[in-house]
Amino acid sequence: MMQIPFFRYPHVFGQQREEILAAMLKVMDRGGFILQDELREFEQAIAAFVGARHAVGVGNGTDSLCLALQAAGVGAGDEVILASHTYIATAAAVHFSGASPVLVDCGPDHLIDPAAVEAALTPRTRAIMPTQLNGRTSDMDRLEAIAGKHRLVIIEDAAQALGSKFKGRCAGTFGLAGSISLYPAKVLGCFGDGGLLFTDSDATWTALKQLRDHGRNDDGLVVRWGTNSRLDNLQAAVLLTKLRIFPQEITRRRQLARLYREGLGDLEDMTLPPGPDGDPDHFDVYQNYEVEAGRRDALREHLERHGVRTIIQWAGRAVHQFAGLGLPPFRLPATDRLFTRCFLLPMNTSLTDAEVAFICDVVRAFYGAK
Ligand SMILES: Cc1ncc(COP(=O)(O)O)c(C=O)c1O
Repeated sequence: MMQIPFFRYPHVFGQQREEILAAMLKVMDRGGFILQDELREFEQAIAAFVGARHAVGVGNGTDSLCLALQAAGVGAGDEVILASHTYIATAAAVHFSGASPVLVDCGPDHLIDPAAVEAALTPRTRAIMPTQLNGRTSDMDRLEAIAGKHRLVIIEDAAQALGSKFKGRCAGTFGLAGSISLYPAKVLGCFGDGGLLFTDSDATWTALKQLRDHGRNDDGLVVRWGTNSRLDNLQAAVLLTKLRIFPQEITRRRQLARLYREGLGDLEDMTLPPGPDGDPDHFDVYQNYEVEAGRRDALREHLERHGVRTIIQWAGRAVHQFAGLGLPPFRLPATDRLFTRCFLLPMNTSLTDAEVAFICDVVRAFYGAK
């Protein structure tokens, strides 16, 4: 029987094995591990790729959110609006800044609903943190209009959306700073933890570089409180190598999304993510392929029985559904409904056309569709 895992980590290494090993050996032979050439080179290359003035490599995509909030001066007494359909890291970064996370509903594309953001505004609102979920960038025109009108900071959690665009502009380049995760399963992942920040502001760039390195300036003098959260040079070398094939990787993900759409688009019980074609405002990179199904749990069991692994993000709970966090109650009917329906089909560049066809056949068989 065909076995289709959710992700194939060995594939990620295997497709560039020799180049990656050579890049890592170079770093190790030289002994330059922290804040060295490869990191600067990667920061410049990735900033150019997304069209940002600056990139700052940090330890992971959670620290990047925390540092962005610190650089923006968000703290105690402030409220930060974010979608409840996000990784706990987005809300945790707000919590640890001292501000209060205000969770709102998502829209039909599973991303933060701008109308819900507007409804959640209070005099204490300081920032909006849209999660650019599943490789798609939110309608930033609407969010920027709200932020502009109410003098709010935008900090993007673009952990899942490197390379995705709204109206030709890349995720992570809107607002004061944009945060990316380089976790191994991300569209561009390293071989461990890693994160990135983008900013167009010279002052924010300087602050972020200091914050990730014990508050030190370029002369090594401590000029503020900081932490240790630097993207390792070994990871930067891996990422520089992987960046060479990144555009093809995105193209392939978009092809896979097209194949899913062709295979499943007519099924009434299912709702698929927006397709890659026909909407000039959005360029999606399909970090995930998050579908909805009325008979979700039975369908997932059926797929599992046929060797296809699927998952539900965040262990099946939106942030406001985790009782242990002690959050105030939030009424989020769209998100509650979505979490009875959503799950992820496999989406990664190890998948062959035949495997996607197989997955679609298994789903169609479940619904008795030809
Ligand atoms: C939406 C979102 N935000 C934040 C993060 C945190 O990134 P990291 O795991 O690199 O800390 C992730 C990673 O999974 C994510 O998907």
